[in-house]
Amino acid sequence: MKLIVAVDNNWAIGCKGHLLVSIPNDQKNFAMETTGKVVIYGRKTMETFPGGQPLRQRTNIVLSRNPGFKVKGAEKVCSVEALLEKIKAYPSDDVYVVGGEEVYRELLPYCDTALVTRIDYKYEADAYFPDLDADSEWRLEGESDIQTYFDIEYTYLKYKRMISGR
Ligand SMILES: NC(=O)c1ccc[n+]([C@@H]2O[C@H](COP(=O)([O-])OP(=O)(O)OC[C@H]3O[C@@H](n4cnc5c(N)ncnc54)[C@H](OP(=O)(O)O)[C@@H]3O)[C@@H](O)[C@H]2O)c1
Repeated sequence: MKLIVAVDNNWAIGCKGHLLVSIPNDQKNFAMETTGKVVIYGRKTMETFPGGQPLRQRTNIVLSRNPGFKVKGAEKVCSVEALLEKIKAYPSDDVYVVGGEEVYRELLPYCDTALVTRIDYKYEADAYFPDLDADSEWRLEGESDIQTYFDIEYTYLKYKRMISGR
């Protein structure tokens, strides 16, 4: 299983329920990477999607502990155990964890690849991703050239897990 995330220089990922910044080419990259694949996310992250709805052209799996929570276009699971059971039906390489903070933290131990958009700035934030540079289980394996969007500079990084996950 992979994860895909955009972080700033402090590994921040969000503020007040929103992304830190929207970079059109990063969004395109996210769509190219995940279209036709399985995306896993928390109920709060779903609220940040266009219209608060599941992502089109993908198999959507949303985590919520609320037994009454139902959404058209997504399968719901109410625990990590139920999620792990459900994704057995898909090739591991086709499954992407796409956020947010709580879900990344819970599922990081099950991921073997992290696709990180690293934005060269420090934003005001209240949601963070674990610092993979400080985690000996993870190693930076690839780095793109510097990309720009107006005055924002960012890079696509690929981290791999060195010790096999759970
Ligand atoms: N930079 C990025 O790449 C990126 C990507 C995605 C999101 N984000 C940001 O991340 C922030 C949201 O993160 P967050 O931590 O607040 O929320 P989140 O992880 O998106 O969702 C948390 C919710 O997911 C459900 N959940 C989590 N673990 C569960 C489990 N084990 N079993 C069942 N349900 C579970 C619960 O829903 P219920 O409350 O319904 O039970 C929980 O309240 C926002 O700022 C968003 O913009 C950033």
